[in-house]
Amino acid sequence: MKKRTYQFSSAYVSRYFDASFKELDTIVDRKKAIIITDDHVFAAHKSKFKNWNVICLKPGEEYKVQPTVDAVIEQLIEFQADRKSILIGVGGGVITDITGYVASVYMRGIQFGFVPTSLLAMVDASIGGKNGIDVGPYKNMVGIIRQPSFLFYDLSLLKTLPLAEWSNGFAEIIKHACILDKGLFSILESSSLSKMMKNKALLTKVILRNVDLKSSIVKKDEFEVGERKLLNFGHTLGHALETQYELTHGQAVSLGMVFAAWLSAHLLGFKDADQLEKVLVDYGLPTRSGFDLAKVFNVLKMDKKRVSKTMSYILLQKMGKGVIKEIDLIQLEAHLATFNALNKKIK
Ligand code: GLY
Repeated sequence: MKKRTYQFSSAYVSRYFDASFKELDTIVDRKKAIIITDDHVFAAHKSKFKNWNVICLKPGEEYKVQPTVDAVIEQLIEFQADRKSILIGVGGGVITDITGYVASVYMRGIQFGFVPTSLLAMVDASIGGKNGIDVGPYKNMVGIIRQPSFLFYDLSLLKTLPLAEWSNGFAEIIKHACILDKGLFSILESSSLSKMMKNKALLTKVILRNVDLKSSIVKKDEFEVGERKLLNFGHTLGHALETQYELTHGQAVSLGMVFAAWLSAHLLGFKDADQLEKVLVDYGLPTRSGFDLAKVFNVLKMDKKRVSKTMSYILLQKMGKGVIKEIDLIQLEAHLATFNALNKKIK
């Protein structure tokens, strides 16, 4: 197990790489720890949870809501959790969000750490300190920015990951490449989902590179006043589609990135939109689907990046170079209508 410590404005985060779940009790005291996980992760790794205090939640984004938070808090009270307790989220993005959020409000804040079990959680959801819940159709509408004490990477947990979850994770990896790292985009271009799943060394390299990319941007702008907004590439339309249609996060973000790349071509002369679409297809992600514009725009315009009548939209100047552009909401709706007319409707 290799440890690295990253300093954020208000906290240190220890990252353990090459770790094995059975070493978890060398970094936390079992008696003080309460694991939060979901039924899928628990069933896939049952023996690992033996002798740990566990709260097991129903899986799925639909449970990333206030009633789940209330239920977890009630169970923490039953466990007699106190200010010295530490919550450990073992799971994907929904579990990391709920764990970080509950830990930040329980007794006005207790420690928490993550053991990400999905590719998406390893490269994105566990990193950055944003933890929150959805409110109706509005994703992550309520939450905090507070860093975990530790991140614990056991890549063997990926062995039981369903195929759709691999694509989900690669959507965020492709996003990081687009906004920050042309070299990473070339690596992705010269491989594919099936090749990457078989090549452990390459996969490990890609995961670590993404952890570093995301950590470095969050370190520079922890509270998202500037550069961190780049990480929302594909997410403004993506979040609105995700709540209105039965799409995974990765599928929705993929469609959002295709629109953002199309808009980048129109507004900034971005030239690599076709290459981006090809890479998304190679990693099992959808690229073209029309939608009900009124329904989607109603949600999109409430995005947290809206200020009054404009929205900070993330575009690409060139591959590996994301930029933040303020776009008038009326113009944005018109661009979306033009783009949408090019695509067949999602069922
Ligand atoms: N939890 C994800 C982030 O902070 O971006």
